[in-house]
Amino acid sequence: MLEKRLKLNLLFHDLKSPLAVVETGVTSLLNRRRYGSLSEKQEKVLGRILRNARVAQVLVNDLLELGCAQKGIIRESPIKISSIIPEVLWQVLDLTNHNLSTKIKDVLDLTQLQSILPEGGITLSISPEIWEKEFYLDERKIKQIIRNLMSNALKHMKNSIELTIKEKDNCFICSVQDDGKGISPKYHKKIFEAYFQMDDLDENNLRGHGLGLAGVLILVEEIGGELLLESDVAKGAKFIVRLPMPEKLNEG
Ligand SMILES: Nc1ncnc2c1ncn2[C@@H]1O[C@H](COP(=O)(O)OP(=O)(O)O)[C@@H](O)[C@H]1O
Ligand SMILES: [Mg+2]
Repeated sequence: MLEKRLKLNLLFHDLKSPLAVVETGVTSLLNRRRYGSLSEKQEKVLGRILRNARVAQVLVNDLLELGCAQKGIIRESPIKISSIIPEVLWQVLDLTNHNLSTKIKDVLDLTQLQSILPEGGITLSISPEIWEKEFYLDERKIKQIIRNLMSNALKHMKNSIELTIKEKDNCFICSVQDDGKGISPKYHKKIFEAYFQMDDLDENNLRGHGLGLAGVLILVEEIGGELLLESDVAKGAKFIVRLPMPEKLNEG
């Protein structure tokens, strides 16, 4: 069963390259104009191809995330938050705020990062000690978790998002809070089920597939942590991830 899933994941993974070729090719035809000007009709057709290529990319990424989440492999190693957050942020912002995403790639330290994020309505709350501290975490999984919560928050935010990372009672705590339309308590369980969606299209006409949160929940539970949701209609949403830290972390 596991082997079958891995094979399937490899197939999903291999779909990424051809889709990327379609996406970059059409983007350069549309943006750079170095291949000559386009008629209105041609532009329209290319625009449709691009949107659908992106929808396919989102689907492939979702499937991969869910697949990885179900593989049950945990690779923990000491990592610093400073080495994961900038990458996660530029990745999730790449589609919605390309300008900010590019700036993040050049960021040198926490202060600089915290000063440019408000441009995208994002506040990063973390102390310099936690930023540089080594946590014993599965880097890939923690990135997947934060990426998913952040991309949902970006999709649903009105004006602001607060990303908080702290340590409390031997737990690593990461929360993502947005000020969007919120989630009625009657859906608090449902949204963690695979393929469940309450949505609509986002501003890029990209549709998710209701796999993100299902994957996040599997990951968090697999690491032995918990995922909490505080939200109500019109009150925004706050997703809190709490991961227990192994004892050895606190020894040295
Ligand atoms: N921050 C949020 N604010 C409001 N609704 C949310 C938020 N995050 C997730 N949801 C709801 O939960 C559903 C499931 O989320 P998810 O599993 O990430 O799927 P997807 O993003 O593909 O729709 C979404 O369709 C959306 O309705
Ligand atoms: Mg999502």
